[in-house]
Amino acid sequence: MPENFKLDLTHRPRRLRRTASLRALAEETVLRPQDFIAPLFVIDGRGGPEAVPSMPGVFRLNLADLAKECRALHKLGVPAVALFPSIDPKLKDAEGSIALREDALVLRAVRTVKKAVPELTVMTDIALDPYTTHGHDGVLTADGRDVDNDRTVGILRRMAVLHARAGVDLVAPSDMMDGRIGAIRCALDTAGFTHTGIMAYSAKFASAYYGPFRDAVGSAKAAGTHGLSKATYQLNPANRREALIEIALDEQEGADILMVKPAGPYLDIIREVRNATNKPVAAYQVSGEYAQLHAAAKLGWLELERCRRESLLAIKRAGADMILTYFARDMAAELAG
Ligand code: PBG
Repeated sequence: MPENFKLDLTHRPRRLRRTASLRALAEETVLRPQDFIAPLFVIDGRGGPEAVPSMPGVFRLNLADLAKECRALHKLGVPAVALFPSIDPKLKDAEGSIALREDALVLRAVRTVKKAVPELTVMTDIALDPYTTHGHDGVLTADGRDVDNDRTVGILRRMAVLHARAGVDLVAPSDMMDGRIGAIRCALDTAGFTHTGIMAYSAKFASAYYGPFRDAVGSAKAAGTHGLSKATYQLNPANRREALIEIALDEQEGADILMVKPAGPYLDIIREVRNATNKPVAAYQVSGEYAQLHAAAKLGWLELERCRRESLLAIKRAGADMILTYFARDMAAELAG
């Protein structure tokens, strides 16, 4: 190639990348602290914070520390938290009975947060996995070989009403049973909680990226079920059309917000869902996505801050209106500073 080679080009897209200010003007996607929902793990008693080894920087918090963490998140502009109880294995049974107790840890946690920071949006998972000895999201069929759909939905309805009574703004059914959104909507309305919203885990895949979360809530340790297969209810990672069927059903049944989970490996699904609905779309950057960035950063193989930002930007660019992420606090602090 001669040194003075010149292309006769009308279109030179690099013109808009020449300076920082031009790049800022042409920027299409912007992350804000308001985009994030912080998942928080809760323990009973006065102990903790307990580190979760597979999730550096994540701790199981007692109720007093939970209140403190929520104040800090609110100050940083994070609008919402999702609460996950870590239950003493001795209290678990095959039916997940303690999920329906009036003094359940998660209900006390909701009241604590609502009292400490009334403006914060609080959501809770509706599923039985933190409470069952086998770690499944529902109760089992008589032969013990599968999760019983309809009996599980009957229990989840009662659980959702208890959570609404404790003051959650959104219940988040994460169980993937058929018909649960309609059944929960009806139970909430009948009990007078017409204002309590539903964030549906609509396209939730049977993913291997949930491992660290199962360490955090102890749903794996209790049953030795780290690799527990939830394939009879969660979606096959190979299936895109089936995800859209689930999204359409949850929307018809009355979900207020539709979620895709995991997020990073499912950006195509987020985009399809964005194009298929006018409802808000949430994406859950799950524990394994968080763990893998931390692990690579610890080895010096990736830059944590840049990868964290890029991973969240990609999820938003794909079409998510809100992102559940364990990076919520750090990312909001970085954006604020
Ligand atoms: C349970 C639930 C899971 C997650 C959120 N709610 C795990 C599972 O389905 O086994 C995973 C979140 C994460 O990995 O960060 N219904």
